[in-house]
Amino acid sequence: MNILVTGGAGFIGSHTLIELYKAGHTALVVDNLYNANPEALRRVAEIIGIPEIPFVEADIRDRQALEAVFANNRFDACIHFAGLKAVGESVEKPLEYYENNLNGTFVLLDVMRRHNCKNIIFSSSATVYGDPAIIPITEECPKGQCTNPYGQTKSMLEQVMMDLQKADPDWNIVLLRYFNPIGAHPSGKIGENPNGIPNNLMPYITQVAIGKRERLGVFGNDYPTHDGTGVRDYIHVMDLASAHVAALQAITRKQGLTIYNIGTGQGYSVLDVVKAFIRVSKVDIPYVIMPRRAGDIATCYCNPDKAERELGWKAQFGLDDMCRDAWNWQKNNPEGY
Ligand code: NAD
Ligand code: UD1
Repeated sequence: MNILVTGGAGFIGSHTLIELYKAGHTALVVDNLYNANPEALRRVAEIIGIPEIPFVEADIRDRQALEAVFANNRFDACIHFAGLKAVGESVEKPLEYYENNLNGTFVLLDVMRRHNCKNIIFSSSATVYGDPAIIPITEECPKGQCTNPYGQTKSMLEQVMMDLQKADPDWNIVLLRYFNPIGAHPSGKIGENPNGIPNNLMPYITQVAIGKRERLGVFGNDYPTHDGTGVRDYIHVMDLASAHVAALQAITRKQGLTIYNIGTGQGYSVLDVVKAFIRVSKVDIPYVIMPRRAGDIATCYCNPDKAERELGWKAQFGLDDMCRDAWNWQKNNPEGY
């Protein structure tokens, strides 16, 4: 298939491109480079072994630019990664987040429809479950109250796509609810490249390991978990990448709208991750216990059986692989791209 990949120069998009090409698909990336570096695409092409990844630098809110992309290419489906994703920033800049994530997706869906491309895989998030009613979380678990505008945009866009598919059953839509993607391509050539102080756990740990940050702050050790620190379902970004290739099957089978949890089903605490990282990297990670972070929940991990049952997809990598590859990327690229 030929796939339009919005936000393809970013963390998850760049890794997904490799799995798409490996499975025999081709892709064109549209990205405004707001949170990405074109070097990522150059390295992806190098890993795949092709001269370059077809790329148009454009904002998906720019209708004219998207129209031109569709006029010049025929796409079988779109994988839609483009969006703003920093939770804290979304609380400070709600209008910018709602505007970019909602409006960008509205323009994209409309242009797709005009060009009769009605197949889309959307990057949703475990955040839509809020503080989950059931652990492990199945897809039947009701959506919860999101504590921030970023999460609201995911929840709202899921609803928009459900309504769209109901109104026009020609649409095939896959909502992938990612749990906590970490790690990097095993080559160490591409990985997560956060701007400024990392908000998420693994990039913070790797920056402590490389000597950029003094110590990790562990946000709370009084949660009702096995060691008091927050428990999450970390998933290797290459497993997440292959889930997108598997999700294309749901599109081929014309399944209408389907939702899948994409995680390993295994929960690890903050201290479990720190210990695994130290073991794998042989670098010490000094840490200090800090107050809980606003909006955090105690435990979040999924039941990923539906994806295995219907898509034949199952995570292959474990926590040690995630730590090894995140560290390999950081070590080889101390300043990112
Ligand atoms: P990322 O920021 O690395 O990638 C997103 C890409 O979209 C960036 O390259 C950015 O430049 C681009 N972009 C943003 N707004 C755009 C616009 N209006 N037009 C064109 N390009 C635009 O983020 P990521 O971690 O790769 O996440 C990809 C998707 O997955 C996002 O939608 C994110 O919300 C979602 N998601 C991520 C996580 C995670 O932990 N990384 C978890 C759940 C869901
Ligand atoms: C965060 C987002 C979530 C998003 C997800 C994507 C919040 C509240 N939620 O989830 O919406 O979908 O990223 O990956 O930001 N931690 C520390 N010290 C740190 C950083 C994190 O102790 O410096 C802890 C957190 O308290 C949490 C765990 O590590 O228990 C994981 O945190 P993080 O990587 O930020 O992911 P989430 O909070 O699960």
